[in-house]
Parts: sequence; C-alpha cells; structure tokens
Amino acid sequence: MDLVIREGRIEDTQECAQICFDAFWDIATEHNFQPDFPSVEATVRVVSAMLEHEGFYCAVAERNGEIVGSNFLDERAEIVGLGPITVLRQAQNEGVGQLLLGDALERSDRRKASGVRLVQAAYHGRSMALYLKQGFEIREPLAAMRGTLRRLDVPDHHVRAVEISDLEECRELCQFTQGFSRNWELQDAISAGNAFLAELGGRVSAYTTNIGFGGHTVGRDSAAVMALVSAADRIRGSGFLLPLRSTDLLMWCLKQGLRIEQPLSLMSRGSYREPQGVVLPSIAC
Ligand SMILES: CC(C)(COP(=O)(O)OP(=O)(O)OC[C@H]1O[C@@H](n2cnc3c(N)ncnc32)[C@H](O)[C@@H]1OP(=O)(O)O)[C@@H](O)C(=O)NCCC(=O)NCCS
Repeated sequence: MDLVIREGRIEDTQECAQICFDAFWDIATEHNFQPDFPSVEATVRVVSAMLEHEGFYCAVAERNGEIVGSNFLDERAEIVGLGPITVLRQAQNEGVGQLLLGDALERSDRRKASGVRLVQAAYHGRSMALYLKQGFEIREPLAAMRGTLRRLDVPDHHVRAVEISDLEECRELCQFTQGFSRNWELQDAISAGNAFLAELGGRVSAYTTNIGFGGHTVGRDSAAVMALVSAADRIRGSGFLLPLRSTDLLMWCLKQGLRIEQPLSLMSRGSYREPQGVVLPSIAC
C-alpha cells in the first residue's frame, strides 16, 4: 500500500468534500443523529473556503494516487483548531486517520503552536479513541443547540456590529476568557458581516463571530452572551456549541425552546487554561 500525505490544493475540493460529506453522513445516520453537513454542495463551500484561506493548512492522504482522506488545521491563532478529519468510507479503520492526525500534530509541534484543540461527536467512539491515543484530553462536554431564536431584549446590553476599532477591546476580552487572542478569525467575521458585540456601560461585554458551528463567542458573563444569542437572526450550521457547565445559559436556552441536538467533547493537546466568563467554542476550538 502506497499511502502518502501531501498538501491539499484547490483542485482537490470536489473529492475531499465528497469524502467528508459521506463520512459524516454515515456516522451520524448510523447513530440516529442529523448529519453535520446537510449536502455535498454545502460541504464543497466549507472545504473550498479552507483550501483557499492562507490561515488554514490542508492535508490530503493519497493511496496509489487516489485521495482517501483529508484534514484541516485552522492556524489563525496560537492555539490551532483541528478538523474536519475524514477518511473515505472504504478506507476507514486502516490507519489513514492516524496518519493524517500524526501529520497535523507534527506540523503543529514544528511550528511551535502552543496547543491544538478540536471538537468531536461524543457518540463516536472511534474518533474519541483516535484522539485520546494521540495525547488529547477531554476538557469540556458540549451540547449543540438548535432551534428558532426569539428576539428578546436583555436589559442594559446594547448589541451592534463589530468594527475594526473594536478589535483591541475584543482581543482583551478573548484573552481574559480563553487565554489567547482570536483576532484573525474576528477580522474574517467582520469582513463577512457576521461579527457582533454586546456593550454594557460602554464596555464590550461579549462578542461573536457567528452563533453557529463555525463561530466562537466569548463573554464576561451569561447575560452578555444571552444578549448576543437573542439578537442573532438565526442559528447557523448544525447549532451553536454550549458548554454544559454553563448551567444558567443552558437552562435559559431550553426555556427559549432551543433543543439539544447532540453531545460533543472539546479536546485539547498542549497548553490549556480553564475558561473564565463564558465561551461558546467553534467546531474547531
Ligand atoms: C474518525 C476517522 C477520521 C478515523 O480514521 P480511520 O482511518 O478510520 O481510523 P484509524 O484506522 O487510523 O484509527 C482508528 C483507531 O481507533 C481505534 N478504535 C476504533 N473504534 C474504537 C472504539 N470504539 N474504542 C476504542 N478504539 C477504537 C482503532 O482500533 C484504531 O486504533 P489502533 O490502530 O490503535 O487500533 C474516520 O473513521 C472517519 O472519517 N470517520 C467519520 C468522520 C469523523 O467522525 N471524523 C472525525 C471528526 S471529529
């Protein structure tokens, strides 16, 4: 078997997206959950955006010249976000996933990333075992929250779009809550028109890059995050990721009629600090 890892190219989009869609479809339907990617077209959009973005590292596994898997690293912050890692149906359980993961960790070590994080479906024993065996620890049980948002006013919090002039204050807030800065992601979200913040007494109390799978949200407390969730036009992708430890926020979401879609785990390797305030992680970290 001639199995090699090489860097992904934009021409790989279709094959990688099809493998990614099929792999997530199979595992979700096998366990009676909704697939994370609703269609091949949606998967193509996500995969091509990562292949085109200079802040992402994309690796492709090829066996005898045929693509059998891929993996992505979001390198926009000092803590790297891993995934999605997916392997062709017919090539699973043959070591391809381990090889892709090993390549990603080697690269992150070489580039001296202070840590690597990922979010995995907690019902999927194989991926959990794969990451645990490579030195990841489970840090945070999460729930993906879905449903229709009600537009509620949270007293005293004013919500508006993030502007470039807010970046420094948002960086400080992220540093306080997560222990590192995610301003490259925030700048991307500002460009896409997806970044919002809540203000309390003239100070940024929370910001979000979108309320959904692909975005992260940080806030000084639950009320600030509630203000952002209430003001969002919709929940994007397969839901937003809520740490189960944030009991008051979780109970508030349930009272609003949101539903717990699936359990997930935030895992980390390398530097990790317990969050302060409230953090809704993205699907990468
Ligand atoms: C998860 C995935 C990437 C793994 O790739 P793979 O090539 O199938 O996996 P590998 O063969 O490299 O390794 C799997 C390891 O888990 C072990 N394993 C599998 N199921 C297990 C279980 N329930 N408990 C313990 N170990 C398990 C295997 O034995 C193997 O370890 P070993 O080689 O030390 O024995 C692939 O199966 C996939 O694409 N799944 C669907 C998409 C997905 O869930 N991706 C992860 C998103 S977070």
